[in-house]
Amino acid sequence: ATTLGASAAQTGRYFGVATAAFKFTDTPYMTILNREFNSVVPENDMKWDATEPQQGRFTFTNGDRLVSHAQSRGMTVRGHALLWHAQQPSWAQGLSGSALRSAAINHVTQVATHFRGKIHSWDVVNEAFADGGGGARRDSNLQRTGNDWIEAAFRAARAADPGAKLCYNDYNTDGINAKSTGIYNMVRDFKSRGVPIDCVGLQSHLGTTLDSTYQQNIQRFADLGVDVQITELDVQQGANQANIFASVTRACLAVARCTGITVWGVRDSDSWRTGQNPLLFDANGNKKAAYTAVLNTL
Ligand code: XIL
Repeated sequence: ATTLGASAAQTGRYFGVATAAFKFTDTPYMTILNREFNSVVPENDMKWDATEPQQGRFTFTNGDRLVSHAQSRGMTVRGHALLWHAQQPSWAQGLSGSALRSAAINHVTQVATHFRGKIHSWDVVNEAFADGGGGARRDSNLQRTGNDWIEAAFRAARAADPGAKLCYNDYNTDGINAKSTGIYNMVRDFKSRGVPIDCVGLQSHLGTTLDSTYQQNIQRFADLGVDVQITELDVQQGANQANIFASVTRACLAVARCTGITVWGVRDSDSWRTGQNPLLFDANGNKKAAYTAVLNTL
């Protein structure tokens, strides 16, 4: 096949990209998006600050536009992210204790209910573990509502949209390390106690090297009985960029339960990593060596 999406589909996978409703009027951008990708995720449009700017008042305009564009093109949608310590509206940042807990769970319920039936996979909880530290959870306002906030979020999401796959998503989990092991232990615990979880997202914001245990790490999560998705892939520009993109792709293809790859933007100029040129298309929309490496690996 000649596009990323069609090539990934040959093995039953998707190849997705992070996008935003405000970009839908950029014609060169949309040409690439529509041609290459068969899955999209909102880079910001479904986050807490975007969807519930005032408590109990929800705005889904941009999220709905994204979903409707995807549906019209036969693309699936990843939902990102129901709960996260960052990009919270200021009213939520001002809450704590049981008031924050109920606001958070209400947020999960309302947003997952609004998009019910339209989301392939939800990042239910994003970045709840601290770097290193044997898996200790980040000291976030959500964590301070009680250690069970993650499972409460997953149960609420399942009740609101039983058809969506429910993912835990994090970064610096690109190999077997203390942080990914903490997440691994949580997933194993959830599976043993029947807490609903279907997938683990490895963000994969990568530098100039790839951890040699990247594939092994994917495999150990898959062996717990969850899918693995590469959810926010971008790779710092450098001599190794194309090789790293290819190695990530190869690792995913090698694990049956690694079901899709999403890159975190279309062109280098769309990336949040300013100056690092970490994506598959250059600012002019030309395919980079990294693009060809991924396409040839799929
Ligand atoms: C980033 C977006 O790309 C930026 O536009 C925004 O200003 C900040 O958030 N991990 C995540 C994503 O889960 O939501 C982040 O996205 C990148 C890191």
